[in-house]
Amino acid sequence: PAGFPPGPRGDVAVELLRNPLAFLEDAAARHGGAVALVLGGERVVLVSDPGLAQAVLIDQAADFVKEGTAFFPGTALAGQGLLVSDGDTWRRQRQLANPAFRRSAVASYAAAMAGETRSLLEGPWAGGGARPVYADFNTLTLDITTAALFGTGLPRDQATEVTGAIRTAFEFFSERAASGFVVPEWLPTPGNAAYAAAVTRLDAAVYGVIDRRAAELAAAPAQAPQSLLDALLGARDEGGGRMARRALRNELMTLLVAGQETAAIALAWACALLAHHPAAQARAAAEVEAQLGGERPSAANAGSLRYLEAVVLEALRLRPPAYLVGRCAARDVNLGPYSLPAGTTVLVSPYLLHRDAARWQAPAAFRPERWAGVLAQRGGAAAALHGLGPNGAYVPFGAGPRNCIGTGFAMLEAVVVLASMLQRFRLSPLPGAAFPAAEPRITLRPSAVELIVDPR
Ligand code: HEM
Repeated sequence: PAGFPPGPRGDVAVELLRNPLAFLEDAAARHGGAVALVLGGERVVLVSDPGLAQAVLIDQAADFVKEGTAFFPGTALAGQGLLVSDGDTWRRQRQLANPAFRRSAVASYAAAMAGETRSLLEGPWAGGGARPVYADFNTLTLDITTAALFGTGLPRDQATEVTGAIRTAFEFFSERAASGFVVPEWLPTPGNAAYAAAVTRLDAAVYGVIDRRAAELAAAPAQAPQSLLDALLGARDEGGGRMARRALRNELMTLLVAGQETAAIALAWACALLAHHPAAQARAAAEVEAQLGGERPSAANAGSLRYLEAVVLEALRLRPPAYLVGRCAARDVNLGPYSLPAGTTVLVSPYLLHRDAARWQAPAAFRPERWAGVLAQRGGAAAALHGLGPNGAYVPFGAGPRNCIGTGFAMLEAVVVLASMLQRFRLSPLPGAAFPAAEPRITLRPSAVELIVDPR
């Protein structure tokens, strides 16, 4: 094996931050499916070759771990939860959390998804006009995720406190995730002190809810879990052990961090694409009308919205919220023809895989139709997302053992929210507005998505 792959000379952090998508495409075009980069002094290998991506994410998953991966913020908020832990700690937590994300469990959150969406559509959207939809979806997915996490049955003061604490802590977290330069969390800056205070308040609120619910369930076990919290409280490992209180808190916050912003971004891009592709929007709206009429979107009827599902898959292909997925070489490893020293950060790029010209026809075009065959053949999106996707180059939710535990949740949420919206509104760009630019940080977020929403 031949050491590091080829790559540009010098530190490219500034160039990458200036225009990440163009930078990534250019780097892959010039140097190929594996590119060695220096980013802020860190040696990084960017992977966009499907075979090498499969090696990192699936075949050699034990060689490429999370620990030591550069560029991860938010440990103060989420601690050592599923997203960042490794080895036996991760394995046990994942086993304990898996049942909470079974299809039947996920289906039980559809009512909260539809209900929270209705509040947005009947509230801020009621009058129509120009709306900051990305900001709206950030609030909406925070409300949906909070409802799924804690249920809708909390006493009012506790619900208000936990929601308020989450929002405050999240403002700090988003600011941090949005800045190109991340101040280490341990530095005693005023910003960090305020963030730490917000996390302390959040902890008190979350532990308050955990303890109250644990006591309630001990007194009167529920027939079925009412929330992700219930499911995690009820989870047992092979030895009958349960999740420790601290671990439970970390997983709840991890689910919030992992599931809220990604979902808001996915929805915002999907809406921008629909607004800029009126024929696709008309077709999706016609499908919703034909299948649902005025009926509320639910887990039971969402499966009949195949075209809308294709819209979501296609939006996730063109603008994958997780456009880079990071790993760290646990030891000296061989990756295809290369050999990488222990500690090397490897960034697999869903964004680049999704535009691989050898795998996709007209990769830059928004064509939900391209998913029709796959969805019909495999009977829905869940099956289409198996492995590295239908053609080995589709990984919006990652792949292998560390794939997204919330895939089913996120797909249902997207379809339910979009269907609710299309039942009542037509979306269009502001007059003369270009397609929103990407503002890639840790996630591929849109700069802002402002759209006209017309009541139907
Ligand atoms: C992991 C994407 C929604 C919870 C991941 C990974 C990706 C991803 C790419 C793998 C990261 C890696 O390999 O390093 C997305 C996208 C979403 C979404 C694009 C929305 C469109 C959600 C939701 C939840 C969630 C709704 C929970 C409610 C998680 C967790 C992990 C994860 C806990 C870590 C799993 C593990 O390592 O065992 N997500 N996600 N995600 N996601 Fe999601």
